[in-house]
Amino acid sequence: MYNQLIPNDFMTISEEEKRKVILTCAQPTGKLTLGNYLGAVRNWSTMLENHECYFGIVDLHAITTPTKPATLRQNVFDCVAQYVACGLDPEKCHQFVQSHVVGHTELAWILTCLTPIGELQRMTQFKDKVAKLGFKAAEQEGEEIKFTHDGARAQASINAGLLCYPVLMAADILLYNADLVPVGEDQRQHMELCRDLAQRFNHQFSETFVVPDAYVGETGSRIMSLADPTRKMSKSDENERATLYILDEPGQIGKKIASAVTDSEPVIRASPEKPGVSNLLAIHSALSGQTIDQLEEHFAGKGYGILKEELTEVITESLRPVREKYQELIQDKTYLRSVLAQGAEAAQKRAYKVLSKVYRKIGLPDRSKG
Ligand code: AMP
Ligand code: TRP
Repeated sequence: MYNQLIPNDFMTISEEEKRKVILTCAQPTGKLTLGNYLGAVRNWSTMLENHECYFGIVDLHAITTPTKPATLRQNVFDCVAQYVACGLDPEKCHQFVQSHVVGHTELAWILTCLTPIGELQRMTQFKDKVAKLGFKAAEQEGEEIKFTHDGARAQASINAGLLCYPVLMAADILLYNADLVPVGEDQRQHMELCRDLAQRFNHQFSETFVVPDAYVGETGSRIMSLADPTRKMSKSDENERATLYILDEPGQIGKKIASAVTDSEPVIRASPEKPGVSNLLAIHSALSGQTIDQLEEHFAGKGYGILKEELTEVITESLRPVREKYQELIQDKTYLRSVLAQGAEAAQKRAYKVLSKVYRKIGLPDRSKG
C-alpha cells in the first residue's frame, strides 16, 4: 500500500508548495460552538487565498478517550460538513482525516523514541485529564505526577495514548513541514514540544524539519459562556444554556440569549466589571462587524431586553446560511467523501516526501525506492 501511494512527481516542488504552509487539526467532537467558529474556523477561512492550507480531522486523537465507533464515524462527517458550511472551500484547501494518511503514526513512533517520558508527564493538559480521571495532579508544574492512593487504583484507566497525545500532534505538524499552526492558547505547551522535537531531530540527524510557529489568535476573540461569562464557552459545559452551537435552531438561539447572564446595572457598555454584557457585545461585534464603540453608542439609553433581542437576530441571521448549508451537505455523503478523498490525496503526497526523508536519515529503508 505504501509504495502504491507514492506520487509520480515525487521530487518536484510546485509553485503552490512554495507558499507558506498552514496546518491545523481538531478532534471530530460533533457540534462546533460559536467560540470554535469565531475563535478558529472563521479565521482559518480568511487564510485560504494566500497560503497552502491543510485541515486535519484527528480521529486517532479522538480515540484516546472512549468513543463509540458509530459516533466517531458520524462525527467525522459532521465535522467536514460544518467546516465546508463555515467557509472552508474544498477547492482552496485540503481537508483530510488523520487516519486516511499514512505517516502520522509512523512519524509519531519515531518522535516517541526521541521524547523523554518526563516531558510528557509535565504537560498541563495531560495532568488535567489525569486529574479528571481521579488522579491528584502534581502540586507544582514541572514535577512528575505523584500518585495518591486512590490515584494508584485509577491508574489502570489512564491509557498510554493520553500520555503520547502531544507526540502524535507533533507528528501531525512535522509530517507536512508546516510553517504556521493556528491553535488555541491551551495548545501552546504542545506546540513547544513539537518545536523541541523538530530541533532535536534536526540536531541529531541533520536539517530535516521546518520548526513551525504557533499562531495563537488574539485573546479578544475569546467567546465566554452565556451562563458564567468568566469562563470560556465550551462544548463540554454541562449547562446547556451556556453554549451556543453554530447549528442551533433560531428558537434555541433566542432562549439561550434570553437567559444569558448580565448584571444589575442597566447600562450597555463593555468593561471588565461587566463580563456578561461585554461578552454579548463582543459576539454582536464579531458577527455584525460593528465596533464596540459603535454598539455602545447604538444601545445608549436602551435596556438589556433590546440588546438581547437584537443580538438574537444578528446571530440567527449570521448562522442561518451556515446551518442551511450544513443540512444540505450532511445529506450528501458522496460529496463529503470526495472532499476527504481529495484532501487525503494531497496530504499523502506531501507527507510521503517528509516521511521518506526521515526514514533515510535514521537508517530505515527508503521505501520510495521500492
Ligand atoms: P476546542 O473546542 O477546545 O478543541 O477548540 C478548537 C478551537 O476553537 C481552538 O482553536 C480554540 O482556541 C477555539 N475555541 C474554542 N472555544 C473558544 C471560545 N470560547 N472562544 C474562542 N475560541 C475558542
Ligand atoms: N491537540 C489539538 C487540540 O486539542 C488538536 C490537534 C491534534 C492539533 N493535532 C494537531 C492542532 C496538529 C494543531 C495541529 O485542539
